[in-house]
Amino acid sequence: MKLSFLLNGDRVELERISPQMTLLDYLRIDRGLTGTKEGCNEGDCGACTVMVRDGTGRKALNACILLMPQLHGKEVTTVEGLSAPDGALHPVQQAMVDHHGSQCGFCTPGIVMSLATAHATGEKDYDSVLAGNLCRCTGYAPIIRAAQAAAGGDVPGHLAPVDLPDSAAEDDLTGGAAAVIDSADALADWCLAHPDGRLIGGATDVGLWVTKRLDDLGPVAFVGRAGDMRQITMTPQCTKIGAAVTITELTRAMIPLHPDLSAMLSRFGSVQVRNAATIGGNIANGSPIGDAPPALIALGATLQLRRGAERRTIPLEDFFLDYGKQDRAPGEFVEAVIVPRQPDRLACYKISKRFDQDISALCGCFNVQVSEGRVTSARIAFGGMAGIPKRAAAVEAALTGKPWNDETIAAAWGAWDQDFNPMSDMRASAAYRLETARNMLVRYYLEDLGAKTRVREVSA
Ligand SMILES: Cc1cc2nc3c(=O)[nH]c(=O)nc-3n(C[C@H](O)[C@H](O)[C@H](O)COP(=O)(O)OP(=O)(O)OC[C@H]3O[C@@H](n4cnc5c(N)ncnc54)[C@H](O)[C@@H]3O)c2cc1C
Ligand code: FES
Ligand code: FES
Repeated sequence: MKLSFLLNGDRVELERISPQMTLLDYLRIDRGLTGTKEGCNEGDCGACTVMVRDGTGRKALNACILLMPQLHGKEVTTVEGLSAPDGALHPVQQAMVDHHGSQCGFCTPGIVMSLATAHATGEKDYDSVLAGNLCRCTGYAPIIRAAQAAAGGDVPGHLAPVDLPDSAAEDDLTGGAAAVIDSADALADWCLAHPDGRLIGGATDVGLWVTKRLDDLGPVAFVGRAGDMRQITMTPQCTKIGAAVTITELTRAMIPLHPDLSAMLSRFGSVQVRNAATIGGNIANGSPIGDAPPALIALGATLQLRRGAERRTIPLEDFFLDYGKQDRAPGEFVEAVIVPRQPDRLACYKISKRFDQDISALCGCFNVQVSEGRVTSARIAFGGMAGIPKRAAAVEAALTGKPWNDETIAAAWGAWDQDFNPMSDMRASAAYRLETARNMLVRYYLEDLGAKTRVREVSA
């Protein structure tokens, strides 16, 4: 495998590098670039944040769970590359000095990289920009003041976009036991040749298997460069989302169609995690607490699976057979997810201990269609209530065909016990989960009547 990318303006070409080496280890161990810090080594703290530019623009990513082949054809800027060659500080660095944005300084390189990326892209929602950057001692007020002071200024000349390395497919990249795939067809061939191989989307799950479990991944194929799997195609009938579409891209695309799904996804991990994580990975990992599957199930999505030239499409809920078991044959992969166009009635309620950067205790998604005061269809799906993302079939049946009123909601109360027997764990007790799920239906109904229930709507 031969990789080419730019690092702080210099072209890097690497052969014979382990495909499971993280960028953080490469920077710190192989290059001595120790400005990028290791905090948690699992994507949570943002101390390792770097700026990566590809054909779609600049994004902040966590170097600790970014595997080297994911960089092919891209440009990486670390904190060492942020100041100008003559030593002049980047506007964000200068503002951090001026506004006292750093005490112990351990978080500072990561925070500066997140803010420098936002400075370049024009993003000004600093609560969101910094949700994945943990600072223990300065406190965020001076940091946000620094971000605001630096906003709007020119991006320094030495950070102007330059040509990216030629990332055209090469035989030694698309074949072999470690492949950087450039199309769904190439992936189909690779999966047939390596039926037990491991696909890698954003590596926000797989990266932790490397850094925390010290797994040997075996044969791997990286799907992030498969352009046809990165498309979102909209027709009057459906929205087709390629498996390699990132959560950031999906969040943007869903704003006009299902804004509540976008709002929920904007609480998925952090900016850095959403910039890497793919929808294919979120589905294929089979997690019972993944956030996208319940919403997509509530929307009646179908999953397009592919093995060689053969494709099959199944309702998304049927993909999840049991805890840790999905309906995916050896050599088969997730190619796309397809959401039918429909009037928007979707509401998503993610319950977690923190608002940002936290995995759901439970996540309930409701899509109840009502015509002339009567429920014409109901699709309700949950994460965190069973070993798989699961529909509330008994509750749906209790609502369908009934008047959309208080009595129907109350009459559905007992159906929840038929649908779910959740477990207790560190995130929530079984009783809490069941009661919260029930209350979500009440909330959905009251919101439909115009009640304001969202945390940000009712805050002072
Ligand atoms: C700090 C942090 C916060 C997180 N917060 C959230 C959160 O709030 N909500 C949430 O739902 N998740 C969260 N996650 C989990 C993770 O980000 C998601 O599950 C993500 O969508 C995984 O996507 P990926 O592309 O990174 O998957 P990868 O890590 O690349 O792969 C995950 C699994 O899917 C398989 N896979 C990937 N693509 C395909 C494909 N096309 N076909 C078949 N198999 C495939 C891989 O082989 C692997 O088994 C978080 C993770 C971290 C590290
Ligand atoms: S070291 Fe904590 S996110 Fe990478
Ligand atoms: S300055 Fe110490 S952790 Fe942020």
